[in-house]
Amino acid sequence: MTVGPEIERAAALLRAGRLVVFPTETVYGLGANALDPVAVARVYEVKDRPATSPLIVHVASIEMAQSLVTSWPEIADRLARKFWPGPLTLVLEKKSAIPAIVTAGLSTVGLRMPAHPIAQALIRAAGLPLAAPSANRFTQLSPTTADHVRESLGDDVDLILDGGPCQVGIESTVLSLTGPHPVLLRPGGISRAEIEAVIGTVATASELVTGAHPSPGMHARHYSPRTRLLLVQDGKVPDQGNGIYLQHQHPPSRKDVEIVRMPSNAHEYAAALYDKLHQSDARHQDWIAVDTPPGSSDWDAVNDRLRRASVSGAIL
Ligand code: TXA
Ligand code: MG
Repeated sequence: MTVGPEIERAAALLRAGRLVVFPTETVYGLGANALDPVAVARVYEVKDRPATSPLIVHVASIEMAQSLVTSWPEIADRLARKFWPGPLTLVLEKKSAIPAIVTAGLSTVGLRMPAHPIAQALIRAAGLPLAAPSANRFTQLSPTTADHVRESLGDDVDLILDGGPCQVGIESTVLSLTGPHPVLLRPGGISRAEIEAVIGTVATASELVTGAHPSPGMHARHYSPRTRLLLVQDGKVPDQGNGIYLQHQHPPSRKDVEIVRMPSNAHEYAAALYDKLHQSDARHQDWIAVDTPPGSSDWDAVNDRLRRASVSGAIL
C-alpha cells in the first residue's frame, strides 16, 4: 500500500513520543515507540494497566525482530517464516535496547509482525518497533473496530487510524521460546495444531505447575464486558431478568430473549465475537448468555476468551 499523509503524520507522532492507535488483523493496538520509556509509560497510564503486564513489540520484518533479541533460535526462525506476518507472538530474550518498562522488568520480550497493511506501513514509516497492547482499558473487551476504541479511550490518544473491522478478531497466540521447551502462554489466532505441525509438541501454560501467572492475559476477568456474561449449556438461559443470547447451536430455553446468531465456523465466530459482545454490552441488559461452543481444539482461543469474560456461579 502507498504511504499516505495520515500514515506519515502517525509516524511523526510516534517518533515524537506520542500514542497512535492502529489496526492489526487481530485487534486494534495502542502504539508507542518501543524504545522510548516515557512514551511507553503513557501507554500504561492510558490503559490503567498495572506495570506488571508486559507489552508486545510489533515489528515490520524478521530482521527488525532479530535486532531486538540476544538470540534468534532456529525454532523462532521456522515459526516466523511460516506464520509472520500474522497472529503469533514469540517470547524471546531481549536486548537492553528495549527498556524494562516495555517488558514489566522481564528479561524477555514478546515480538510479533502484524499482517494488517496499515500496521506494516506505520512501523516502516516510523522506522521503529512499536510497543502496543490492545487499545482498551485494562480488563475490558478488546477493540475490533475504530469505534470500539473511540468509545473506550476517546481523547486520551493522539491519533486513531481506522482500518475497518479486524479480520481475525481475537488476540495473537503467545508462545514462549525461552525455556527448554516451547510453551503456549495464550491461545489465539494461530492454533496449537498449526504450531505443532511446524515444531512438534508444545506445552500449555496450564499444564505447567507454576506459582505465578506466566502471562498476564492469563488472569481471570480479562477481556470482560460490563454486563454479566454467562456461559450456558444446551440453551439454558436464566429464568429471571432480561438478556441477550448469543446462539451457536442450541435455541434458548426462553422465547422472550433477544437472539444474536453466531457463525458456526470457529474462525468466523472469533472474528465476530468482540463486536457482538460490545454491541450486547451497550444494550445494558441484565445478562448476556453465550451458547457454549464445542470443546474441540479449533475453538481453544474462543473458549479461552469466553471463560475469562464470564462470571462463574448463578446470578439473580
Ligand atoms: O493480537 C495481539 O497480540 C494484540 C495486537 C495489538 O497485537 N495485542 C495484545 O496485547 O493482545 P496485550 O497487551 O493486550 O496482550 C499481550 C499478551 C499478554 O498476555 C502478555 O502477558 C503477553 O502478551 N506477553 C507480552 N510480553 C510477554 C513476555 N515477555 N513474557 C510473557 N508474556 C508476554
Ligand atoms: Mg489486551
